[in-house]
Amino acid sequence: MPAENLLLDPEMRSKLWTRVIETIENYTSNIASQRVTPELEPRKIRSLLAACDFERPMDPLEAVDFIARGLQQYQTHAPHPRYYGLFNPAPSTMGIAADALVAAFNPQMAAWSHSPLAVEIEQHLIRCFGAWFGYDTKQTDGTFASGGAEANHTALLTALTDAFPDYPVRGVRALEGQPVFYASSESHHSFLKAARVSGIGIDAVRRIEVDDKLRMNPQALEAAIARDRAAGMLPFLVVATAGTTNAGVVDPLADLARIAARERLWYHVDAAWGGAAVLVPELRPLLDGIASADSITFDAHKWLNVPMGAGVYLTRHLEILHRTFRTQTAYMPREALGLDVIDPHLHSLQWSRRFTGLKVFLSLLVAGRAGYEHAIRRQTALGHLLRDQLRKSGWSIDNDTPLPVICFSDPGGADAQAIVMRIVSSGEAWISSTQIRGRTVLRACITNYRTEPGDIQALLHSLNEARSQERSQPAATREKAVSS
Ligand SMILES: Cc1ncc(COP(=O)(O)O)c(C=O)c1O
Repeated sequence: MPAENLLLDPEMRSKLWTRVIETIENYTSNIASQRVTPELEPRKIRSLLAACDFERPMDPLEAVDFIARGLQQYQTHAPHPRYYGLFNPAPSTMGIAADALVAAFNPQMAAWSHSPLAVEIEQHLIRCFGAWFGYDTKQTDGTFASGGAEANHTALLTALTDAFPDYPVRGVRALEGQPVFYASSESHHSFLKAARVSGIGIDAVRRIEVDDKLRMNPQALEAAIARDRAAGMLPFLVVATAGTTNAGVVDPLADLARIAARERLWYHVDAAWGGAAVLVPELRPLLDGIASADSITFDAHKWLNVPMGAGVYLTRHLEILHRTFRTQTAYMPREALGLDVIDPHLHSLQWSRRFTGLKVFLSLLVAGRAGYEHAIRRQTALGHLLRDQLRKSGWSIDNDTPLPVICFSDPGGADAQAIVMRIVSSGEAWISSTQIRGRTVLRACITNYRTEPGDIQALLHSLNEARSQERSQPAATREKAVSS
């Protein structure tokens, strides 16, 4: 082996690939019988890493075994069928294969001429997603992003550019007032971060109240816009959510579209997770109105089950990404000048980036639209099953959505967070807690295409056990358990 050990010789490479494949296959086949959650032991992890001082090269197979053991032990396993989590799915097998191919071929996605097939595949996917949401494919543009947060950030920047054409050049100082935008109190917090870093500040975010079903209240939106205009503010954007992070609720998309159009505001729909409902005919009506959105966030690393990260920003305004992000450089490749193509670095927040779209493309090629339709329908049915079983076991359901996110609590007063801690530390499942209308509730999402009815029964059993243990605890011990 050459001293630098970067390429490795063909014999070692062949052993390495075999070991990596065996490791992936073992993990995929056996994960369901393992703990879902890790021990949270920072000291143990750091002492494990202390031995890695990079002074003595390690054998490649030993290195793979070391990291596989470590990840197995110290990870919350989203690929586990009993991970009822925050929209992190089990990765599709084709997605895993695609990521390995991408790492090997390493196409550079900044310039079209460096990776013409890869860039065209991503553009093809963008047109295809646009068509799913009802956009005219000839008027659809977009970009792949690291995830939903970056896609939402892109939406904020394109909305600012659209409303204030000087913004990309002269910045917020060019504006004659404070720009403000509207999103519900249940919208994703990435909009707050985007407001912070775009220079408009989080005071620019108007978090609009929700109705009794946790959907943005259109009258409250109208009132807020009127108040802001009267005060000399500059409204520029309405954000709706299709599938809120907390509760899987879809805002009234068509009503909000009408208000945004009447007020001449950019309309963005954050469909990071819930957008995939478009693939299931009986869920599709939930998204009525989305075709009117000026832009859409859609995360393939959520309900399209590809490995992280794969966000998508879509728009029906062909020039807006270019107007928002274009720059001029002397050093970027020029071979594609004059061709009818898009250089991605002129078109997005990122510059050099990996071929994010391949894991989506190969997963879709092999599962087909029908494969996804089937998986999403099945998960939705499991959501109904969990909801029914929880009700039958005396839990109350605190959210109202047909999508498989269930927020629930014990009317008998057992502490939701303490129940979550019991379940997570048992390693039997991963669930979480959140706040609904100021109350802490439990939250379980059927985010994994490998989850089966038996897993739902097992979760129910763990929940009922944890609840009775909690109910039988004296109050003082309960408080201690939660705070420790
Ligand atoms: C509705 C919604 N939007 C945006 C995001 C952010 O996505 P990401 O974590 O991929 O950046 C999430 C994450 O869960 C989300 O639920």
